[in-house]
Amino acid sequence: MNNPEEAVIDEVMCTCSGTTRGMIYDLVMQGKNIEAISRYSGALSGCGGCEWEIGEFVKALQATQDEINPES
Ligand code: FES
Repeated sequence: MNNPEEAVIDEVMCTCSGTTRGMIYDLVMQGKNIEAISRYSGALSGCGGCEWEIGEFVKALQATQDEINPES
């Protein structure tokens, strides 16, 4: 049985490319922007149906990073 955290990490956000929430999280933590995330993962390069959800997730993560590291 997966714990709830693993279930969130494994949640597929882009069904066209199979990109999970955890993959997007890792790429944002590496400092990648939305275009780079799309290139690396293939997300947002198919039907575009994931665009809003992934965009909001990336924005929220970047806002958290800015709070932790305001100089960057
Ligand atoms: S669901 Fe992400 S491009 Fe189709």
